Amino acid sequence: MSPIWTILFATISLLCATTMASDPDPVQDFCIPDPRYGSLKTAHLTILPCKNSSEATTDDFVFSGVKRAGNFSADTGLAAIPVNPTNFPGLNTLGMSFIRADLKVGGINPPHFHPRATEIAYVVEGSVYSGFVDSTSRVFARTVEQGEVMVYPRGLVHFQMNVGDKPATIFGSFNSQNPGSQKIPAAIFGSGIKEELLEKAFGLSPKQIGAMRRRFDPKKVK
Ligand SMILES: *[C@@H]1O[C@H](CO)[C@@H](O)[C@H](O)[C@H]1NC(C)=O
Ligand SMILES: *[C@@H]1O[C@H](CO)[C@@H](O)[C@H](O)[C@H]1NC(C)=O
Repeated sequence: MSPIWTILFATISLLCATTMASDPDPVQDFCIPDPRYGSLKTAHLTILPCKNSSEATTDDFVFSGVKRAGNFSADTGLAAIPVNPTNFPGLNTLGMSFIRADLKVGGINPPHFHPRATEIAYVVEGSVYSGFVDSTSRVFARTVEQGEVMVYPRGLVHFQMNVGDKPATIFGSFNSQNPGSQKIPAAIFGSGIKEELLEKAFGLSPKQIGAMRRRFDPKKVK
């Protein structure tokens, strides 16, 4: 191959590799953040300098916070425990994270999406109406039973509802250490978008918009 073709080929391969990867590839076995540089929560960074690997212990790679359900939201009947490098530092730089979600009977995980990850969700217990909507507004949804998994492609809106007669437990895995979660009701009605725009977009009256805002504005401002 002539040098120009070699360069072109290498550039295209590199572009393909970078567009396919979700998080950056690790350049070492693991990277437990060094607490001297602050925590992932306070540093507003997604990747922190590693502590000397000789100081890592087995416990750095085990997280025990998902043995039991989290705290249930009164509004939705959902208890979610996200597991990412902020509470499980051993995940740092590995390009993955996890969630335990528990749903009371009739409880819902409202429509939301993860901008940076595909999620694969395993129903550990219960029967869950589960689905996602693609970019042509086509819905793919059905009841997913205990022992089944469903995948929600990256960036697509998805949702779950416990349609069984006992509590449901779901374990989800993400191909990013920081998938992000954008909740549709809060993003639309709780973010401070001008009311007039929301009225026109949804065909709702000012009174109806006000009711939605009071429900979804986390700061509860009128
Ligand atoms: C990491 O720790 C080992 C063992 O204490 C030490 O020999 C090595 O110099 C340290 N590496 C760095 C970069 O500090
Ligand atoms: C549940 O709430 C309690 C009391 O506020 C808190 O201490 C605990 O950390 C919470 N559990 C989870 C998993 O968030």
